[in-house]
Amino acid sequence: MERLQKVIANSGVTSRRKAEILIKEGKVKVNNEVIKELGFKVSREDIIEVDGTVLSKEFVKKYYLLNKPRGVISSVSDDKNRPTVVDYIDTDVRVFPVGRLDYDTTGLIILTNDGELSNILMHPSHEIPKTYMAKIEGLLNKDDIERLKRGILIDNRRCMISDFKIRDKNFEKKTSLIEITITEGRNHIVKKIFESIKHPVIRLSRIKIAFLEIGNLKSGEYRELTIKEVKKLYSLK
Ligand code: URA
Repeated sequence: MERLQKVIANSGVTSRRKAEILIKEGKVKVNNEVIKELGFKVSREDIIEVDGTVLSKEFVKKYYLLNKPRGVISSVSDDKNRPTVVDYIDTDVRVFPVGRLDYDTTGLIILTNDGELSNILMHPSHEIPKTYMAKIEGLLNKDDIERLKRGILIDNRRCMISDFKIRDKNFEKKTSLIEITITEGRNHIVKKIFESIKHPVIRLSRIKIAFLEIGNLKSGEYRELTIKEVKKLYSLK
């Protein structure tokens, strides 16, 4: 159960202050009955009408953290009928992924129906760090490391790398495991970074978004974010 003015404000039709005014003016109906009481509690089942417009049932905000498996599309639907990240979430709310991971990339992705939070997380100026574990071809030499430290020019724009660590080197197979943190959201950015220093990515997984870590979420598993985590994500603005 939530306070009526909060639900109206969360639905995006107006601010909480304006919602309070509308309620006092008798312009809000719950289940076809005018409600003038501020703080009246409503649930998802209630039909809320604000100034003649019925609010969508989607007013309940939901936030999920999924460990996306390989071979899954980061969108709400796919014209080729491939599985999408939304298929993994058991909810009656229409959620969408915040940003995208490539079809063959695994790891963390947030799904929500909260457009405001999605915009905060996606806006480049907020520089939300995302950490990936990349298995790459070859072993990094001094020059590669210097280039990563200086940032890599991708499509004429420099991509700065917040941090990177060599987690493992396989001298036999000539592969390396690199943990890399960037704040950029450009498509295929990690693959492009390593391609440009001639160490193509073999496997990629996102292991952290801001402070959210993969923890013990197995491939295909998800959990709801806590209110505290959602507030913390909002505070990254
Ligand atoms: N960078 C990539 O190259 N692929 C992803 O899926 C995410 C970041």
